[in-house]
This record gives sequence, C-alpha cells and structure tokens, in this order.
Amino acid sequence: MLVYAVGLVLPALAAMPPGEKVARGSNCFSCHAVGHKVVGPAFAAVAKRFAHQPGAKAVLVHAVKFGHVGTWGDIPMPPHPQLTEQQLDEVVSWVLSISPTTARAAAPAAGKTYRYTVDGKQVTLNFPVYRPGTRKVTATVFRGYELFNSYCFRCHGEDAMGSEYAPDLRQSVLNGMTEAQMTQIAMVGRKAKGMPAWAGFFSPHDLKAIYEYVAGRAHRLVGQGTPPE
Ligand code: HEC
Ligand code: HEC
Repeated sequence: MLVYAVGLVLPALAAMPPGEKVARGSNCFSCHAVGHKVVGPAFAAVAKRFAHQPGAKAVLVHAVKFGHVGTWGDIPMPPHPQLTEQQLDEVVSWVLSISPTTARAAAPAAGKTYRYTVDGKQVTLNFPVYRPGTRKVTATVFRGYELFNSYCFRCHGEDAMGSEYAPDLRQSVLNGMTEAQMTQIAMVGRKAKGMPAWAGFFSPHDLKAIYEYVAGRAHRLVGQGTPPE
C-alpha cells in the first residue's frame, strides 16, 4: 500500500513545473485556481489576457511582488516580498504557460442542489449537509465545525453564535453571503477592522467546509456543539 502510494506521488511531483511548485509552496492557491475564479482570477484567464502582450512577464512579476488591484475587480492581491526574483520568474512563467485545455481539465463539475425541510419551511442548498439517508453531517461539514471552533470562534463566537468582537456569521449567510464572498473576506481579511487574512493558512477547500458548517448552523440544520458525524 505504501509502495503504491509513493509510486503515485513521486512521479507527479517530479513532473510538476518549477513555477507550479513555487505556487503550491506559497499562498497562491488560497486565492487562485487554474481553471476557475476563486478570490483572484483563474490562472488560465491571466494567461489568456496576457498572451501576445509584450513585457507581460515583467508586469506580472511586479504585480505578484508588490501586490495589485484594479485589473480584475476591486479586491486587492497582497504583496509577496518573501519570493526571490527566481521564484517570481518561475511562478509567472508557469501561469503564462497555462493553456485552455489544462484549464478545462481542472474546472469543477457543475453544481447539484439539496433540499431540506426545517420547521415546515424548505431550504435549498448547493451542498449536502447530511450523509444520504441519515441525520449525520458530511465529513466536510464536520471539518468545518472543527476548523470554525479552532480558529474563528474566538472572535465570531462558539458554534458561530457571534460575539461582541465580530459579527454573527449565521446572520451574514441569511443576509445572502455566498461561499465565494466568505472565502474572499476570509482570505483577504479586513485588517483595519480586526478581521485577519487567512490566505496561506487555509485553502479554498477549508473555507468551503467552514462555509457549509456556518450555513448549516444558519438554517438550523446543524445544532450547537459537536454535530453527529
Ligand atoms: C489573498 C488573495 C491572493 C493571494 C494569496 C494571491 N493572489 Fe494573485 N490575485 C488576487 C487578486 C484579487 C487578483 C486581481 C488583482 C487585480 O484586479 O489587479 C490577483 C491577480 C493575480 C495576477 C494577475 C495580475 C494582473 O496584473 O493582472 C497574477 C499573475 C497573480 N495574481 C498571481 C499570484 C501568485 C503567483 C500568487 C502566489 C505567489 C498569488 N497570486 C497570490 C488574489 C490573490
Ligand atoms: C481576531 C478576531 C477574528 C478572527 C479570529 C476571525 N474574524 Fe472574521 N471578522 C472579525 C471582525 C472584527 C469582523 C468585522 C469586520 C468589519 O467590520 O468589516 C469580521 C468579519 C468577518 C466576515 C464578514 C462578515 C460580514 O457579514 O460582513 C467574514 C465572512 C469572516 N469574518 C469570516 C471569518 C472566518 C471564516 C474566520 C475563521 C477562519 C474568522 N472570520 C476569524 C474578526 C475575526
């Protein structure tokens, strides 16, 4: 089993371009994906926009090094002073090399919806809260519970109930905050207002788990305390 796993992992790493290794070793994948927008644009969209543009590499190296805002919207990318010139060169060359075919292969599958009834009212979500045929939460929701109550609770309240320091995120969800919006705020932070930036610490997958847990709490599908898994 171990031999099999090693056999699978090593060639994949060896085949990884140096720039992709830099991206995976840094915080890039907290905010970017190859084939779809997360907080920042899809790397494939950056490659497409800057293809045939003279001096593109220097422009993008500058953007990653010093941070950037305005080309893709009003969310800022933070600076990356920890990357060396060589790492910047490698990571930007890799981004520019991404083709539409690679991007399509990396795109997520289209969403399904899940319906639940709470106190006679229907709630429709784009993720499952429970495992099929049970009232036990999915592994993702459970992971969201663990992450929330390890990292977010000290300001946003235990079991996502809110506190005097930070808003009740259940209310944010009921007011319409989507997973993408929560991911954006959590990765970028609002430092001036006391909300830390979590890019580099969490992946979008972790934020998805936190969102699903908070949404489950918001719609009263998940109770206080440890949910049954
Ligand atoms: C906290 C979120 C965040 C992190 C972390 C992040 N980015 Fe970005 N990135 C963004 C956003 C948002 C934009 C769009 C900025 C704009 O509109 O100009 C962006 C834009 C870019 C662009 C296009 C810049 C332009 O001028 O069009 C490149 C290239 C890029 N990022 C690469 C990277 C790389 C490489 C890393 C890791 C070293 C990284 N990003 C880490 C959020 C992030
Ligand atoms: C050190 C305290 C602190 C921690 C820890 C913290 N937050 Fe926050 N968060 C805040 C504060 C303060 C605000 C309100 C900022 C403002 O007024 O815009 C906030 C706002 C937010 C918002 C915006 C809510 C809205 O309706 O506008 C989201 C989403 C959020 N936090 C997610 C998280 C997540 C997810 C975690 C855990 C990974 C987390 N926060 C951890 C302090 C914190």
